[in-house]
Amino acid sequence: MSHFLKIGIAAITLLALSACTRTTPLQDAMQDMAQGLKTLARAKQENEREQGLAQFKLALTMAKTMQVKPEDQADYDKGLVEIGDTLAELEAAIQTGDRKVIGEVVKKIKKIKDSYHEKIIDEPQR
Ligand code: HEM
Repeated sequence: MSHFLKIGIAAITLLALSACTRTTPLQDAMQDMAQGLKTLARAKQENEREQGLAQFKLALTMAKTMQVKPEDQADYDKGLVEIGDTLAELEAAIQTGDRKVIGEVVKKIKKIKDSYHEKIIDEPQR
C-alpha cells in the first residue's frame, strides 16, 4: 500500500471517529443539566451543591435558547418552563442541606424530564 494511501485512510478514519463523538449544542445543554443535577444530588458539601446548582441553572438557560423540530418546539419550551418552575423548590431544598430533601426534588425534576423526553424524542433513550 502506498504511503499516501495509508495516510489518507488514517485521516478518513479520524474524521469519521470525530464525527461520531461530536455533540450538538442541544445535547451539550442536556448533558450539562444532567451533570449539574448529579453533582448537587451527590454532593457532601455545601459548595459542591452550589456548584452543581449553578451548572444546572446555566445549562437550563442554554437549553431554553435551543431550537428543535418545529412540531416539537411548543412542547419543548413548555417542558423547560416546567423545569424552571421547580428551581425555587430546588434552591430551598439545597438550603436545608438535607440530602433526602434534595433527592425528593431531584426525583420530581427527573419525572418531568422523563415525560417530556417520551413526548419529544423519537428514538429510544439510553
Ligand atoms: C433536568 C432535566 C433534563 C435532563 C437532565 C435532560 C437530560 C438529557 C440527556 C442526558 C439527553 C441525551 C443527550 C445526548 O444525546 O447525549 C437529553 C436529550 C434530549 N432532551 Fe433532555 N433532559 C432534561 C429535560 C428535558 C426537557 C424538559 C425536554 C423537553 C422539553 C428535553 C428534551 C430533550 C431532547 C429533544 C433531547 C434529544 C436531543 C438530541 O439528541 O438531539 N429534555 N436530555
